[in-house]
Amino acid sequence: MTVSSRYQSSEYEALATDVQVSLRHVSKVFPGKRGLLNRWTGKARSDYLALDDISLDIQHNKFVSIIGPSGCGKSTLLSIIAGLSTATSGSVWMDGKPILGPGPDRGMVFQNYALMPWMTVEENIRFAVETVYPKMSLTRQKNIVRENIQLVGLNGAEKKHPHELSGGMRQRVGIARALSISPQILLMDEPFGALDALTRGFLQDEIERIWEQQRQTVIMITHSIEEALLLSDEIVMMTRGPAAKIAQILEVPFPRPRNRETLDQYPSYHELKAEMERHLSRETRAVEESRVQAA
Ligand SMILES: Nc1ncnc2c1ncn2[C@@H]1O[C@H](COP(=O)(O)OP(=O)(O)OP(=O)(O)O)[C@@H](O)[C@H]1O
Ligand SMILES: [Mg+2]
Repeated sequence: MTVSSRYQSSEYEALATDVQVSLRHVSKVFPGKRGLLNRWTGKARSDYLALDDISLDIQHNKFVSIIGPSGCGKSTLLSIIAGLSTATSGSVWMDGKPILGPGPDRGMVFQNYALMPWMTVEENIRFAVETVYPKMSLTRQKNIVRENIQLVGLNGAEKKHPHELSGGMRQRVGIARALSISPQILLMDEPFGALDALTRGFLQDEIERIWEQQRQTVIMITHSIEEALLLSDEIVMMTRGPAAKIAQILEVPFPRPRNRETLDQYPSYHELKAEMERHLSRETRAVEESRVQAA
């Protein structure tokens, strides 16, 4: 278990060629809305500093999880890396180039699936492929769609619409859609959050299997300590907001392929788990206390 110190560098430095994504002094302020009152204090809403001076390096082919109390800024951080949101200050880099917007090099799996309700499973995935690769032959596009449907185990559901699918199946479509554009990085925002424990377990195992095959960089937000320990190489633990920061980065040393049944046989599994539980309960308690004081 180590705390990395390589996240303090002041500027982007392409020192380690294996660094794929770099955040340097990233802060995010959401501007306050005049006329709206804070529900806790009754005062006018002022600017909200969500992320404060975050620097982070993510290496190629690593599975990195982000964990932190609810509302601390995890989705904000991920959407800045996706290019869907911009940092108020600081910079974000991918392979030495600044991230200025969304791109096909990053595939996003959204927490709420974000599927087109009027399109079938097949059409949802094909739409992404067509958009990213408009010049690709129709046959190749169809093959990619078929391969990815197979990869996530959705065979037989190709012609169904999202409303005809279970939550787990919708999430599989979201994962297949993100993978179908062959992104260099897969970004996942609580991909299993809305699922029952059994489906969640199945999908975690599938993500582990797919990751073993493809070994591309993954950045995943999760609230589950066990999920983070099963899937990740590194776990980024964030502090509570406002002004959330990175508290600590844990390295997860277990060999792969990993098996959920046997993972807890490693003594360090329990140390890492306890470390994460301590962090999350400390930060969550502090959030609750500040709410009580503000009320
Ligand atoms: N568009 C926005 N405008 C104003 N404030 C926002 C906006 N988006 C997020 N915030 C605020 O920024 C903070 C971080 O939000 P974010 O959604 O990133 O948290 P999170 O860690 O992903 O939370 P959760 O675990 O509940 O998904 C929250 O206090 C939220 O209210
Ligand atoms: Mg979120």
